[in-house]
Amino acid sequence: MRAVTIPTPGDADALVLDEVPAPTPANGEVLVQVAAAGVNRADLMQRQGFYPPPPGAPAYPGLEVSGTISALGDGVTGWLVGDQVCALLSGGGYAERVVVPASQLLPVPAGVSLVDAAALPEVACTVWSNVFMTASLQPGQTVLIHGGSSGIGTMAIQLARAVGARIAVTAGTPAKLEACRRLGAEILVNYREQDFVEVLNDATGGHGADVILDNIGARYLARNVSALAVNGRLVIIGLQGGARAELDINALLRKCAAVMATSLRGRPPGEKAAIVAAVRERVWPLIESGQVRPVIYRTFPLGQAADAHRELEAGSNIGKLLLTT
Ligand SMILES: NC(=O)c1ccc[n+]([C@@H]2O[C@H](COP(=O)([O-])OP(=O)(O)OC[C@H]3O[C@@H](n4cnc5c(N)ncnc54)[C@H](OP(=O)(O)O)[C@@H]3O)[C@@H](O)[C@H]2O)c1
Repeated sequence: MRAVTIPTPGDADALVLDEVPAPTPANGEVLVQVAAAGVNRADLMQRQGFYPPPPGAPAYPGLEVSGTISALGDGVTGWLVGDQVCALLSGGGYAERVVVPASQLLPVPAGVSLVDAAALPEVACTVWSNVFMTASLQPGQTVLIHGGSSGIGTMAIQLARAVGARIAVTAGTPAKLEACRRLGAEILVNYREQDFVEVLNDATGGHGADVILDNIGARYLARNVSALAVNGRLVIIGLQGGARAELDINALLRKCAAVMATSLRGRPPGEKAAIVAAVRERVWPLIESGQVRPVIYRTFPLGQAADAHRELEAGSNIGKLLLTT
């Protein structure tokens, strides 16, 4: 089969479409004939050599796919050859076939095409696990979503709107903020021109954010803590602004606030299975009813994975980029 390999880490041209041995499903796994794969920021880091796949994961990039089940390993129940699925992976999605633990499969939601379903697993699982399972966002609370027009951000806005939260976002251009507004965001902050702490403070009458979903890390830590409400929860999922910063514990203590950080890819299989099951129960009905939809910016053939990486690096996307086989 063909897969996108990384013979030598580097820039986008390090991605090479190559013939590789096809995988076979082990106990509890299925083989998926891939229709499309999602492109994630983590794939850029893996390509550069900074984010190696966890032990046992395929060497190729790709954290999510959609496709058709073509073989079942021993002990798999509840799925059949021919089922159309999408899946959360630890790697290996940029390929014509991939093996997946059955516990990380989701059916293609009604109303979503097979290709578009590849845009769902990583963002739905990341947002649901962080904003709802970890930070426990409640109806009527205010959530600040940094990078609101990203793949993650576009899903976070829609899910927060679906539960009745008030939504603030940061983004770098008026067009991206307008896209966030159309998805359901109310408080719009251009991070290149405005201070999100001030804007949020003004818009919430000094209350702040009950939950913050942060992809910047160190550079925003102090300001995120300032922007938190009493009993607020800051969840850090990305380190685009660095990993080391000073934390004012007194500021947290006075607000009875919490700072958490998580990585979906590094979680053990049992936790991933619990997240996927929760997403199927809570998020899939919202997609099937049309309240939440995949936001797809552009689709590239698998052989043009380098172009997709360049596009994500350039940051012109609103929503997700996909590769099709
Ligand atoms: N921990 C986990 O389990 C996990 C899982 C999935 C994703 N993530 C992380 O989630 C983030 C989004 O992922 P993605 O694949 O959706 O990436 P993406 O589409 O490439 O989005 C990156 C986002 O970062 C925003 N950004 C850059 N500088 C910013 C700043 N100073 N302030 C606010 N926003 C800024 C960009 O906004 P503009 O375009 O407006 O500049 C863009 O929306 C990444 O950091 C990724 O690593 C983490």
